[in-house]
Amino acid sequence: MIPMIIDTDPGVDDAMAIAYALSHPDIELLALTTVFGNTHLDGTTRNARWLLEQFGATKVDVARGAGVPLIQAARPHAEFVHGADGIGNIYPAGPTRHADLHFESAAEYIIAAARARPGEITLVAVGPLTNIAAALALEPALPALLQSLVIMGGTLDEPGNVTPAAEANFFNDPHAADVVLGVDWPVRIVGLDVTHRIMITDSDLDRIGNAGTRSGRLIRDVSRHYVDFYTTSGAARGLGSEPCCAMHDAAAIACVVMPDAFDYTTGPARVVPDGMASGQLLMDRKRYAYATSWWEDRPATSVCTAVDAERVRADFLSRLVNGDILA
Ligand code: RIB
Ligand code: CA
Repeated sequence: MIPMIIDTDPGVDDAMAIAYALSHPDIELLALTTVFGNTHLDGTTRNARWLLEQFGATKVDVARGAGVPLIQAARPHAEFVHGADGIGNIYPAGPTRHADLHFESAAEYIIAAARARPGEITLVAVGPLTNIAAALALEPALPALLQSLVIMGGTLDEPGNVTPAAEANFFNDPHAADVVLGVDWPVRIVGLDVTHRIMITDSDLDRIGNAGTRSGRLIRDVSRHYVDFYTTSGAARGLGSEPCCAMHDAAAIACVVMPDAFDYTTGPARVVPDGMASGQLLMDRKRYAYATSWWEDRPATSVCTAVDAERVRADFLSRLVNGDILA
């Protein structure tokens, strides 16, 4: 079993990732730690709790994290992509029963969990990296306490999804992303170079929704607004022929359970902090001899460059269709 914490901003594709992790027999999901992003922090935390409640995952902790980026002013949330509630406009009014751990921040929770099981936990970060940077500031030994870190964020060669240069999670807190990639630890980045190759179609979502499970129906329902966005905004242009959407965050889960489905390139990496290219992921793939101070002492980071998309898609679909989360 892979003990896992997902740091998340739910988020439609975050919901897909959570469902995938819960339905995978090799993953022990310990917690969701929340961060602003697809909507404000109150919304992402409420959504995390509600999704777990809907999935019957009563033992999974929720720890509330950062509501704003490390340094820059907060950018607009992505409600136009994920719905006014962040999960496809299907959140029913009213409180959820699933409690979050008010006494700890997400960063403190991650540190405490890692100290309790040193070297065991895989942290999967699928929102802005603010909580991870905060955890590093509180506990610089965190890298040695974790098994690994898998990040959904950034893009090397694929155009960005919020600007020509930037992917949303890195754009929303580029300073935090640059801090995280400056630390020497086993990091794998699952960015748009691969997530835009794995598209989930309307037919796939119908298959999931008609599988006769509550979790399947929920994933189909949360995805409707998101697929509409991909279709009407042109975000899916060139990526699929029928209405479809990317399952970004679920691809990060796939990278944990089937790392050999991905190709990687490894090198020093940075994230542009400000300006027109803010949030852009850069890697020194040429190993320039004339290192500037910007690139000195940067550790190697692995970024996914290619994926066996059919294998990942098939595994995701079969877990959601056959491996119902609910008893
Ligand atoms: O760019 C895609 C990422 O941004 C995903 O994690 C999505 O949920 C949003 O947070
Ligand atoms: Ca996300």
